[in-house]
Amino acid sequence: MRNGASGSDIAIAEAEVGPSGVTVVWHDGRRHAFHALWLRERSDSPDNRDPGTGLRVTQAAFLPLDIRVTAAEADEDGGLSLQFSDGHACRYEARDLLAAVTRPWPDDMAGVKTLWDGAVRDLPEANYRHVLEAEGAVLNLLDGLARTGAVMVRDMPVEEGGLEPFAERVGPIRTTNWGRVTDVRCIANPYDLTVTPRSLSPHVDNPYRLPGPGYIFLECLEMSERGGESTLVDGFCAAERLRRSDPAAFQVLTQVAPTFRHAEDEAILEHAGPLIELGYDGSVRRVRFSNRTEQVPPLDPDRLSAYYGARQAFAGLLFAPDMTLTVKLRPGDGMVLDNFRVLHGRTAFDPATGDRHLRHCYMDRDVVSSRQKVLRRRFGRSG
Ligand SMILES: [Fe+2]
Repeated sequence: MRNGASGSDIAIAEAEVGPSGVTVVWHDGRRHAFHALWLRERSDSPDNRDPGTGLRVTQAAFLPLDIRVTAAEADEDGGLSLQFSDGHACRYEARDLLAAVTRPWPDDMAGVKTLWDGAVRDLPEANYRHVLEAEGAVLNLLDGLARTGAVMVRDMPVEEGGLEPFAERVGPIRTTNWGRVTDVRCIANPYDLTVTPRSLSPHVDNPYRLPGPGYIFLECLEMSERGGESTLVDGFCAAERLRRSDPAAFQVLTQVAPTFRHAEDEAILEHAGPLIELGYDGSVRRVRFSNRTEQVPPLDPDRLSAYYGARQAFAGLLFAPDMTLTVKLRPGDGMVLDNFRVLHGRTAFDPATGDRHLRHCYMDRDVVSSRQKVLRRRFGRSG
């Protein structure tokens, strides 16, 4: 056992070698037992990782299963120097080891989430021109999106062609069988209820696609005077309320995976997944709710009874008036929505009081996640 000399809280105070690896104690008292093979395969040494790309060049799966740490020293800079039974030597920064312990799986988006209900009055806002002109405004948009899953956009041009350059400030638009940008307005031969004047209950878009649309960028070009309000629900807030009020129902919805299906002349789209999807850490990572396209598998009747009861309890939360934020978009308004978190819908509208014309496009999750993390690094925002 050796003592590190650095006074930093993030430095390593002690490192104790045991039969299975090394127990590390940081200066703030946190401790963690690291497996010897974990420490060996993760080494940043040039004979383990290519210095340019950071990618591993040895085959980790064939490292000796009985590898041992033969020496560990908390060095003067508060890091950890190691020697292994196969002759390898490496050094870890204390902050890197601590980050691996505190964040074992990557965030989809960085930052803390704020759950909200229909009483929310401070959803983040983005200004169209600022986002086009300044990367800082793009980052503020993405940080807001990470926090609440919904950002209102103001001062968009009231003409076609304005949405694409806005979305492309974040990244490439997802092309589907409907193209890059979809018009949402009444049409003569509707291929979907979206392009009728009917009301639409809360839903996420297109869970039948793989990958599902990660984010929705939307602009309003025309709005009927009567009806047509947009409705928004924080699916994560509803899921957490269900977890508290009915843990058994919550669990069923994380386990049963209905199929979502959409078919038209030139497309057959189907994909299965649970209504509430958890991350490896148990946190809610995705909500699926799409009544129009859901097809439940013919499971054992007892299992289905549990599922239907749980789905009804979840829908009761999702449809509750106090959970729903109602917004009347005006021409020039827009929204960016996390389609894995926030459900959207609309009230019915009267086409006799004016056209309702929205346009939207989709973006994949890796595009948005990466853009936020790169900008946070560039602007020095941590966390
Ligand atoms: Fe939709």
